[in-house]
Amino acid sequence: MTSHPITGHTRVYAHFADPVAHVRTPEVMNRFFRQRGIDAVVVPYQVGVEDLPQAVAAARSWKNLAGIGVTMPHKEHIAGLLDDLTEDAVRAGASNVIRRLPDGRLLGGQYDGPGLVAGLLAHGVRLEGARVLLLGAGGSARAVAMALAAAGVSRLDIRNRTTARAAELADRVSGVHPAVRCEVRVENTVAGVDVLVNTTSVGMRGTDPLPVDLTALTAATAVSDIIMKPTRTRLLDHAQRAGCPVVPGIHMLLNQLGPTADFLGLTPTLEPSGEPDPPELTD
Ligand code: ATR
Repeated sequence: MTSHPITGHTRVYAHFADPVAHVRTPEVMNRFFRQRGIDAVVVPYQVGVEDLPQAVAAARSWKNLAGIGVTMPHKEHIAGLLDDLTEDAVRAGASNVIRRLPDGRLLGGQYDGPGLVAGLLAHGVRLEGARVLLLGAGGSARAVAMALAAAGVSRLDIRNRTTARAAELADRVSGVHPAVRCEVRVENTVAGVDVLVNTTSVGMRGTDPLPVDLTALTAATAVSDIIMKPTRTRLLDHAQRAGCPVVPGIHMLLNQLGPTADFLGLTPTLEPSGEPDPPELTD
């Protein structure tokens, strides 16, 4: 592993989140940069919802800033503050990575959905024709829903605390993928579900309840949680004990590193030595 000193030539990325202590992206991206010999660094910033427009405006004035990463709760809001969006980001109405173009414009990309889908497939989860229950309807859920629909799931049920937001997402997915039966699920059950994905923040704190009633959970359901800290949420613990295939959230991130580096125009100087190593995670 090589390490570049941080200099005036280093490509600097800001990462906006709130809270910020649970965010894995900076440590994972920085490790990836070292492994691939890329002279770049990601620095985390805690930015509240109300301060996001100001933070983006400030970022525009930092001329050596090469881009911005975003995590909860900004993925949806930031899409409206940028100059342009990739097709995936437009479809999702959310962005998780932003590139500053040579002319200074900010271009928003979306790699969470494809990252999650790639992580599920790498764990042997079958998505073609699957019945999926998606928990949450925020910025991450939007990206994940679009990617699952594109991956050929037959049915996508969306359950969210704010039902109107789930309905809006179901409409959005149906508009792009009419072949997928996409509906709001009000019932609190996982009965009949092939794949369960949690995109809510429920599970981040040790005192949190389960995000959904798991009484009907059987080993036939694959379970993923995009929460990365703790590494094993209560949901994943329960699923593992029930014998379910389990895909922790870190795989959504690991499986988007390569495409994200390409989007950011970062050229590795070292060849990859296989899959990106999972970082040593401590909760
Ligand atoms: P992100 O960009 O990471 O998706 P977000 O857009 O703030 O972040 O979305 C957070 C998700 O977690 C939403 O689905 C939110 O539900 P609401 O749409 O009802 O706000 C969900 N969420 C957050 N706190 C929750 C809680 N205490 N109980 C249930 N759902 C919660």
